[in-house]
Amino acid sequence: MSGFQANSQLILALSKGRIFEDTLPLLEAAGITVSENPETSRKLILSTNDPDVRVIIVRATDVPTYVQHGAADFGVAGKDVLLEHGGEGLYQPIDLNIAACRMSVAVRNGFDYETAVRQGARLRVATKFVQTAREHFAKKGVHVDLIKLYGSMELAPLVGLSDAIVDVVSTGNTLRANDLKEVEAIMDISSRLIVNQAALKLKRERLQPIIEAFERASKK
Ligand code: ATP
Ligand code: PRP
Ligand code: MG
Repeated sequence: MSGFQANSQLILALSKGRIFEDTLPLLEAAGITVSENPETSRKLILSTNDPDVRVIIVRATDVPTYVQHGAADFGVAGKDVLLEHGGEGLYQPIDLNIAACRMSVAVRNGFDYETAVRQGARLRVATKFVQTAREHFAKKGVHVDLIKLYGSMELAPLVGLSDAIVDVVSTGNTLRANDLKEVEAIMDISSRLIVNQAALKLKRERLQPIIEAFERASKK
């Protein structure tokens, strides 16, 4: 428990970009204003108008890790990221309905995915989301060789690294721009509030009103 601050101090873990931007209105609804913009500041610990609340800026995939270990009391992470992490030590009270997208299988235009699947071909699948991909193809009974990537998945089928990718899709613009097509939607994705289980008990008085404000604001 060495990661815990005094009982009234709260640390919120967010990632830069869409999660930070989409969480700002929810924080405002809880009366919290962040004093700096992570896009322009190099600071990783941001203060707020509440001296007891600070925001730390971490990679999207690292948010559950900080919260699990109590280095942050709560955070915001995509369902995609939470499924890969496993959710150990995390309480997930609410779906914030932000950063909405879907997890999909995509292939090069011209690649006959359905026939390949029907014929029982072994598919090479490149993805950042290996757990989700493994589970999806296991359920379908499709044999796959998973290739772990950390970004730019759309490139993999174009240069022959894989037959398919599993990635998040929103407008479909990235797939279209790279001559790819979506062949299967795996699940809808949105971001969740996650809370350290011990912090929820020890800091309930401070956390509960914020959770409730987030919940009200995310339903609007
Ligand atoms: P990193 O840049 O560190 O590799 P990342 O690409 O996962 O991380 P973001 O792009 O900010 O970070 O994505 C954060 C979350 O937003 C994802 O976990 C996912 O749930 C969601 N998301 C990703 N891409 C989109 C998109 N195009 N539209 C809407 N939501 C998205
Ligand atoms: C994400 C994701 C896809 C793209 C899908 O990338 O990895 O590439 O969005 O969105 P679309 O269907 O609307 O095109 P992001 O914008 O997060 O860039 P990144 O590569 O820096 O993660
Ligand atoms: Mg991204």
